[in-house]
Amino acid sequence: MDQASKLREMVKEKENKDINSNLEYETVRVIAITSGKGGVGKTSLSVNLAALIAKEKKKVLIIDGDLGLSNVEIMLGISPAYTMRDLIKKKKNIEDVIVKGPSGIDFISGGNGFIDILELSDVDREEILIKMKKLDTLYDIIIIDTGAGISKNVVSFLMLADEVIVVTTTEPTALMDAYSMIKILTEKKRELTINLIVNRIRNIKEYRRTSNIILKTAKEHLKRDIIDFGFVFEDEVVKNTIFKKMPFALYYPNSKATECIRYIVKKMDTENKKYEKSIIEKFKNWFKITSG
Ligand SMILES: Nc1ncnc2c1ncn2[C@@H]1O[C@H](COP(=O)(O)OP(=O)(O)OP(=O)(O)O)[C@@H](O)[C@H]1O
Ligand SMILES: [Mg+2]
Repeated sequence: MDQASKLREMVKEKENKDINSNLEYETVRVIAITSGKGGVGKTSLSVNLAALIAKEKKKVLIIDGDLGLSNVEIMLGISPAYTMRDLIKKKKNIEDVIVKGPSGIDFISGGNGFIDILELSDVDREEILIKMKKLDTLYDIIIIDTGAGISKNVVSFLMLADEVIVVTTTEPTALMDAYSMIKILTEKKRELTINLIVNRIRNIKEYRRTSNIILKTAKEHLKRDIIDFGFVFEDEVVKNTIFKKMPFALYYPNSKATECIRYIVKKMDTENKKYEKSIIEKFKNWFKITSG
């Protein structure tokens, strides 16, 4: 059986289960991972968080929103035949653009430019909504890995999410750029939950200093709370596993970095969050915000 038919079967199975069980309709949680400065560890975090969430028997999907080189594909050792754009361009179904990655991580390539909202006709938008609907039944969590910077494309992706994880390192430039990103997000969508991860720390003091600056500045100048999601230690296992086609959190389960990822997954509270907005409502809202 090919991947697409396997997925179609999964959808059918899940839909039947939902109808039969009378359970409350569950919606997928959408988390975008971003930063200001590039190269701070967004993709490494996306892939490894997804790996440990999948290990908890949660259904997880990574959407690669990085429009340049797709590092998620390299890290997972997969090459998708289609991208998100092909939903419209080639009239593909959602199952056709999803690639089954290793260790229960599913993946969709954003494709060059994800979906250009301004290019979409009303009919296209309706079609996207119908196709996306299935994501609510297929997944518990969607992680969007974005590219660096505050370009229109990146910020647009972030508007689709229920919450954002802003990643920084302890470098002053990364910290400044992370704060700029938080400022823009606050201006664009105040209700968005923003979480912070400090990556590549050498000691706890470095983490405290960095997170304190960001949390305090956001509180004072933007009047908003940022949730502290913790830190990840500088650890050579991160680099060592890049071409292993397997996330370090699975390859080196006892490493310092994996311990940190485990803590962050706990902080994410994957058991308890309930989202009121369906994926369709998220997309509708996204069309509204990004079409100006
Ligand atoms: N905790 C860590 N310890 C050691 N090296 C790390 C750590 N986190 C990330 N790196 C390294 O930093 C580099 C950049 O990581 P990654 O590609 O995940 O960043 P990114 O933010 O996704 O970059 P881009 O902005 O280009 O998308 C990689 O070589 C990665 O191995
Ligand atoms: Mg990246």
